[in-house]
Amino acid sequence: MRSSRRAALRFASRLVRLGCIIAAASYAGALLLSGCTSPPPVVLALFDTTPPKHRVHSPRRPPYETPKPPPPVDVQEEAPQIDWAALLDQLPKEAAGGTDWVRALNEGLIKPKPGLDASAEDQPALDLDVELVPRDAPDFKATYPHKPHTQILACANCHPAIFQMEKGADPITMEKIFAGEYCGRCHGKVAFDVATGCPRCHLAMPR
Ligand code: HEC
Ligand code: HEC
Ligand code: HEC
Repeated sequence: MRSSRRAALRFASRLVRLGCIIAAASYAGALLLSGCTSPPPVVLALFDTTPPKHRVHSPRRPPYETPKPPPPVDVQEEAPQIDWAALLDQLPKEAAGGTDWVRALNEGLIKPKPGLDASAEDQPALDLDVELVPRDAPDFKATYPHKPHTQILACANCHPAIFQMEKGADPITMEKIFAGEYCGRCHGKVAFDVATGCPRCHLAMPR
């Protein structure tokens, strides 16, 4: 009977020890599980809790760069505004009021170019006066001066389309000139007027 009581006591003490071990083990387990959120200092001392080295950041903004200056714009230089009317006013005038281009030329106020083409070659002026004497009215002798014409025009502007290269070869009359032929191809259009310019061609006529 005694021995069975002793055996029962021993069994009970074993049970108490086992209970203590289970309780200790479950406490340790609870400590470990809670370690993920906020580990108590005891656990911190036991485990390596250094944070992971490579933290993932949100993408960074690219570093600021001062904007490059815009490429230079190729600006076509504007042709200067020329007041042609004012310039024309400065040139000498003939008796009838028009511009005296030959005087302007002789005074160096204008300098005609050989041609529109940049490669056009200049030709020397021809100093040759051609006296054109009307058969029926010798008093109305006209003098055609090559010099001023060839300072402005090329030989081919007149020869051979308008005039032949021979004195008296063309049947020029005032009627045809007024009708726009011969001298009238230019005079009254781009050169001084025929109606007011009699003495400039007929040098003997009073000015
Ligand atoms: C651009 C030059 C020019 C001007 C300006 C000019 N003449 Fe003539 N004139 C000529 C020529 C050239 C002839 C013909 C010469 C010949 O017969 O070869 C001519 C001929 C004449 C004749 C002879 C007859 C005839 O008709 O051919 C008379 C008259 C005459 N002119 C009067 C005038 C009078 C007046 C004026 C002004 C209103 C004038 N001319 C202006 C160049 C000119
Ligand atoms: C604005 C017109 C004009 C231009 C430009 C001109 N001529 Fe003439 N030329 C004449 C006229 C007008 C005559 C007389 C034609 C006639 O009487 O039928 C003439 C006549 C001539 C004659 C004959 C002269 C004579 O006494 O027989 C020669 C040579 C001549 N020109 C050479 C030239 C040469 C070279 C050039 C260029 C450097 C030239 N001409 C440019 C209008 C022109
Ligand atoms: C192709 C054009 C052209 C033809 C044709 C022409 N001339 Fe001219 N002439 C001119 C030009 C341009 C001038 C200079 C502008 C002005 O004086 O008005 C001029 C100027 C003159 C002058 C002025 C010279 C001076 O010293 O002031 C006389 C004179 C003249 N021409 C006579 C004639 C006669 C005469 C004829 C015909 C036989 C003739 N021209 C045919 C274009 C022409």
